[in-house]
Amino acid sequence: MTNIPAYIKDLFPTNPDWLYHPAAIDSNRLPAIRQELASIYHQIPDRHKWGSTTFNMVDDQKIIQDHCPVLCEHLQQMKILNWLSFIGFITVNPEMKFPMHIDNNPGEFEIALNIPVENCHDSYTVWYNAEISKKSPVPYIKTIDAEVENTAMLIDEASAVEIGRFSADVPAWININVPHNLVCSHDLIRVGATLRFDGLHRLWDKGSHIWSQK
Ligand SMILES: [Fe+2]
Repeated sequence: MTNIPAYIKDLFPTNPDWLYHPAAIDSNRLPAIRQELASIYHQIPDRHKWGSTTFNMVDDQKIIQDHCPVLCEHLQQMKILNWLSFIGFITVNPEMKFPMHIDNNPGEFEIALNIPVENCHDSYTVWYNAEISKKSPVPYIKTIDAEVENTAMLIDEASAVEIGRFSADVPAWININVPHNLVCSHDLIRVGATLRFDGLHRLWDKGSHIWSQK
């Protein structure tokens, strides 16, 4: 995609040249998968510690397997369960907007599988051509049991020009190292899950025919 800012290729040489692809998640199984993910989300202790808009990480594979049998079976069929590193839960409260950012994990997690959980209607992942901000990152990430450092880079929002958007109500692979944020046009608290797989972007050309919709 030609609209991706040129500096992104310099920072992340293996970053894909696309922004999103609808994921090959079976629509018959999606309601059960969403319920499973919600059951993890609602037992994360202290999940609003950093405020009402948050990114919570769950990387305990036992918790994921115990709560999400349908999801894990689906990921197994897609041949990506073994690469699952963690599930992030992105809560967006209308009173506290989600900042534009680059996830910034060069070589590790450059794409994500996002799955809607609660109130994801009228909600979009939006990408921008924009400069990196000089401000420090915001401390909005924690794991289920321990704090970890936030490695996201913030974006100079005044420089941002939208280059694409996709509904956050549809399971999708998204490019997380191009400046992006989440935009909601309703006043409900929105929860989405974002699944991260070690190094999967490097296998995209080989595996995308099973992972994404044609
Ligand atoms: Fe992100």
